[in-house]
Amino acid sequence: MKVAGTPIAMLTAYDYTSARLIDGAGIDVILVGDSASNVMAGHETTLPITLDQMIYHAQCVVRGVERALVVVDLPFGSYQGNSREALVSAIRVMKESGAHAVKLEGGRAIQPTVERLIDAGIPVMGHLGLTPQSIYRFGTYKVRAREEEEARMLEEDAALLQEAGIFALVLEKIPSTLGRSVSRALAIPTIGIGAGPSCDGQVLVTHDALGLTTDFNPRFVRRYAELDTLIRGAVSAFVEDVRSHRFPSDDESY
Ligand code: KIV
Repeated sequence: MKVAGTPIAMLTAYDYTSARLIDGAGIDVILVGDSASNVMAGHETTLPITLDQMIYHAQCVVRGVERALVVVDLPFGSYQGNSREALVSAIRVMKESGAHAVKLEGGRAIQPTVERLIDAGIPVMGHLGLTPQSIYRFGTYKVRAREEEEARMLEEDAALLQEAGIFALVLEKIPSTLGRSVSRALAIPTIGIGAGPSCDGQVLVTHDALGLTTDFNPRFVRRYAELDTLIRGAVSAFVEDVRSHRFPSDDESY
C-alpha cells in the first residue's frame, strides 16, 4: 500500500462485536491496543493492563475478524526486562489469541528484542514518539520531539527498528514535519496518530473516533460519530418506556 500510495487505515478494537463491525466496514489493520487499559478498564494510564488481559481482548477481537490484519500491543512489563521475556510474552499472544503481529514501544533499547521476535517468526510493529508506557518518564502527554536532539534520536531509532525488521511503525504525537521526514526515509509504512498527513497511514482509538470518550479532546482526534449522545438518548428512552409500562408491548410478549 505504501508503494502504491494508498494510505493505510487502522483502528483499535478490544471485543468481538466491535471488531466484527470495524472489520466489516473495511479497515486495513485492527490494533488491540493497550489503550484498553484506559477505555475498557478505566485506568488513568496504559501501565496496569496485564498480558493475560491483553490476550483475552485479542482472543475476542480475532473471533470477530475475517480480513483485517490484527496487531496486539505487548503490555508494559511484559517485554522490557530482556529479550527472552519478550519472546515468551509474544509467543503467548500469537499462540493463545491467533493474532497476526505484536506492537512494542521504544527505540534502540528494544532493538535486540525486536530481532529476537522476528527471528522466531513473529512480525513486529514499532511505536515511537509519545509512547504512553513511558508516561512517567515523560511526565506529560505533550507533543514529543519538538527539539532538534529528540527529533534526530527518533529518526535514528526509526532507521534502527527498520533494520531490525519491523514491518510498520506507529508515530504518535510528533510534529508533522518529522512525521513526513521519517515516512520518506523509511521503506516500511508509518502509521500516524497526531503525526501529520504525510504518514503512510493513520490510526485512532475507536472510542475517540466514535465519540464515546467526550472528555478526551486532543487536536489529533476527529469524531466520526457522537455515540455518547446516541447511547445516552437510547438508554433514557428505555428507562422511560419501562417506567411508563410502554415496554414491552403485546407484540414484544409471548
Ligand atoms: O494502545 C493504543 O491504542 C495505541 C494507539 C494509540 C496507537 O498504541
